[in-house]
Amino acid sequence: MTKLWKPNSWKNFETNHLPEYSNKLELDSVTNQLRNFPPLVFAGEVRSLNKKLAKVAEGKGYILQGGDCAESFAEFNTNNIRDTFRVILQMAIILTSGINLPIVKIGRMAGQFAKPRSRLNEVQSGIELPSYKGDIINGIKFDEKSRAPDPERMLKAYSQSASTLNLLRAFADGGFADLKYVQSWNMGFVKSELQGERYRDLANQIQANLDFMEALGINAETTSQLRKVDFYTSHEALLLPYEEAMTRVDSTTGDIYNTSSHFAWIGDRTRFINSGHVEFCRGIKNPIGIKCGPGINLDELLKILDLIDPKNIPGKITLITRYGKEKVGKYLPEIIQKVKSEGRNVIWSCDPMHGNTIKSNSGYKTRPFENILEEVKTNIEVHKSEGTHAGGIHLEMTGQNVTECIGGLAEVTEKTLGDRYHTHCDPRLNANQSIELAFLIADVIKKNG
Ligand code: PEP
Ligand code: CO
Repeated sequence: MTKLWKPNSWKNFETNHLPEYSNKLELDSVTNQLRNFPPLVFAGEVRSLNKKLAKVAEGKGYILQGGDCAESFAEFNTNNIRDTFRVILQMAIILTSGINLPIVKIGRMAGQFAKPRSRLNEVQSGIELPSYKGDIINGIKFDEKSRAPDPERMLKAYSQSASTLNLLRAFADGGFADLKYVQSWNMGFVKSELQGERYRDLANQIQANLDFMEALGINAETTSQLRKVDFYTSHEALLLPYEEAMTRVDSTTGDIYNTSSHFAWIGDRTRFINSGHVEFCRGIKNPIGIKCGPGINLDELLKILDLIDPKNIPGKITLITRYGKEKVGKYLPEIIQKVKSEGRNVIWSCDPMHGNTIKSNSGYKTRPFENILEEVKTNIEVHKSEGTHAGGIHLEMTGQNVTECIGGLAEVTEKTLGDRYHTHCDPRLNANQSIELAFLIADVIKKNG
């Protein structure tokens, strides 16, 4: 028998990767404040996402989920948010044109602040301090004060998430996302490169279609889909005291939602049967992502699916597989067959980032673009041969011209990694690499029909 769920029942389970706050009174004071703050997202929005995801689970849609590995207080500014949003929209257009399915757009944005780390501590010049765990927990600077977990950081993360959402909402339906601007969206960065040309051709085609529709009386004034987009937010539901404080009963339905983001996911390191993170996620109506890496125990995964989604609701669960290009060919068929044998209505999404991280000779963590692409390709081919729908892509990316992943037409090399390496955690695709990847994914999906 499954025990009664409460927003705080996760406390009775094993909770890995949570910080130890030394001042419990301060922690309580912060979470009590958060409990009284307005929700960041609304139950009705989550329900609309649930409906879209149900379609994806049926094979009638595709998820594009992307954003920073870790949002930071330092990189918080309007241009960063606008540029990432813009690249996601551009990628969505490219993907739609290639695969003819609605693209569900979900940012790793407005709340992606907490990171699980492989090592508890970090050593620099013989000094050992707690690892950086994301700006909502501690600071990246390597000194004792910054690295101590500070509950007050949750208030700042809440406020940054609220401002980010405010801007995203304005961009999504205040004119910025109007399809007639697809041409101008590219001005900033695709310039004369090969994918810039492909993007411009696509934009011209869209313009021709818009002109044709205009002649029929269909335009942005008469048809809101041409002027607005639905954009959702997501993050790893890692920092449970914060997530619990943001969890509310929806007054219209009596159901419980985590109002810190529309979509929450459980990371590869906190996905196990007795996990507090699994316990927390089983009680909320939000759609749940589950990261699946090579260390997964498939019997355990099935039990977790029973716990989180006992009614097997289509689209409730997205399995985000992240095996790396070497292992995907072996592990992906196994997990698909196992999950399929139970008749589970999951969405399959591909995270080609986390299994493809390497350390460059210069010491930077990086990801070769071609390895990312190869995992995506193999992923799509395996789904084709298993008869399942490759239902989405999960990326660490930014709209900025950073140099964090090597390769691609933008030709970031080992040597240039240091030029603009800004990430607070894992290396992200830059704007050009993201656009290029979207075209390549569209091509591979088209080829696999
Ligand atoms: C992440 O998505 O940033 C992450 C930590 O992934 P995973 O849990 O798959 O390692
Ligand atoms: Co990451």
